[in-house]
Amino acid sequence: MGRSAGAWSQGGDIIPVAMENRLYKDLAHLWPLLDPPEEYTEEASFWRQALRGKLGAGRHKVLELGVGGGHLLSHLTGDVQATAVDISPQMLAHSKALNPDVEHHLGDMRSVRLGRKFQAVLIHDAISYLLTEEDLSATFATARAHLNPGGILVTVPDWFLETFSGTTVEYRTRIKDDMEFTYIQYSTDVDPADSTVETVFVYFIKKDDQLEVEVDRHVTGIFPLATWQDLLAKAGFEVETRPYPVYDDGGEGYLLVATLRGDQGV
Ligand SMILES: C[S@@+](CC[C@H](N)C(=O)[O-])C[C@H]1O[C@@H](n2cnc3c(N)ncnc32)[C@H](O)[C@@H]1O
Repeated sequence: MGRSAGAWSQGGDIIPVAMENRLYKDLAHLWPLLDPPEEYTEEASFWRQALRGKLGAGRHKVLELGVGGGHLLSHLTGDVQATAVDISPQMLAHSKALNPDVEHHLGDMRSVRLGRKFQAVLIHDAISYLLTEEDLSATFATARAHLNPGGILVTVPDWFLETFSGTTVEYRTRIKDDMEFTYIQYSTDVDPADSTVETVFVYFIKKDDQLEVEVDRHVTGIFPLATWQDLLAKAGFEVETRPYPVYDDGGEGYLLVATLRGDQGV
């Protein structure tokens, strides 16, 4: 057997905090296998359409917050001049390797200030890691600080309260070189009264006649669509809610395309 997954706690939190968001820390090497860049082609077409539709032709300056491995961004770098931010050095390293022409910065989307403006701020699924309305508002203020009036914020939370379909389980096996990687992804809303959803991954990594099993917990936010629309409006944006029919399970999603009003911008 390979490395142990660590101890499970009894009572209280089911999985210790040390086992949270490992996909962006000690297990970041698994990210390109779990969700490879080529799987983002369809999603990227909706982002390209939003950028071109709102900003017109041209190689616009774009800031992506929570760029992760840069998988979505890799489909857009031909269209835009991109700058990227993430809170995880390991994920930034992935994105730098995939998107060598993009300027990368370590930072938290709730507070980062690069001191310059862009035509668009993009926040893909990383926005789902915001767990409170205060964090959403702080992040919208970050977007506002990096836009001029007429600039756009495009974002797509994994779930809205209205689109969460209950407990889901996904699994997949991928083979790369001499490694066979399998993951099981279990998502559930443990307490419907709070604004979070739990996702637990179990990773099975088979290599050199050894099997390593790892557990990784992710807590993400879930809010009603109206909360997103209200908070964006309060932050100075006019919001369009567009259908985002890209999910493998056929589940509903919305792309939020928010334009900074003329009296806004810092
Ligand atoms: C699912 S990954 C993003 C993957 C990305 N969409 C791609 O195409 O590769 C989520 C990312 O959000 C980042 N993240 C989470 N909270 C953040 C925060 N407050 N500020 C910046 N990045 C954050 C994580 O470090 C992680 O890299």
